[in-house]
Amino acid sequence: MLDLIFSAIWFILPAYFANTAPVIGAKIFGKYNAPISKKILGEGKTWGGFILGVLAGTLVGFLQGVILLGFLLGLGAMLGDMIGSLIKRRFGLKRGAPAPLLDQYDFLIIALAFASIIKTPTLAQLIVILILTPIFALTGNFIAFTLKLKKEWW
Ligand code: CTP
Ligand code: MG
Repeated sequence: MLDLIFSAIWFILPAYFANTAPVIGAKIFGKYNAPISKKILGEGKTWGGFILGVLAGTLVGFLQGVILLGFLLGLGAMLGDMIGSLIKRRFGLKRGAPAPLLDQYDFLIIALAFASIIKTPTLAQLIVILILTPIFALTGNFIAFTLKLKKEWW
């Protein structure tokens, strides 16, 4: 059981790092960081965050010995996160407004879709990933909130 949990986290790890990197990047490079499209995606999706996210995923993949998988998970995570914001803006939700499930799963779905070009998790791993991701996402955001990296605790 523990083996399964660890192997599932190991598989999706580049996507988690990709999703976290922009939050830290925004704090460091905030001033120099331009939004990709204020109107369509909102101010929370920046070029710097996108690039940092893809790099973080690729780096983790490199350290795992699966650099291409890391790149695909990182790129997918960043695009999925952007699609989530696009949907939120279409529904008139302001930047940072909560969209339960969408906020926690947007990056994951597209990351898995991109990764599937070369590798898919087993069904058991997928179930573990689907259960753990919202828990990790919320915990991570809460930590980022307490560190003043994010304005919202969700
Ligand atoms: N971020 C970024 N560039 C990206 C993705 C994220 O700079 N491509 C940074 C932004 O500072 C953003 C933070 O990471 O505020 C957290 O990302 P997220 O929670 O996805 O954005 P929100 O601010 O909640 O905006 P949205 O309502 O669009 O989800
Ligand atoms: Mg958000």
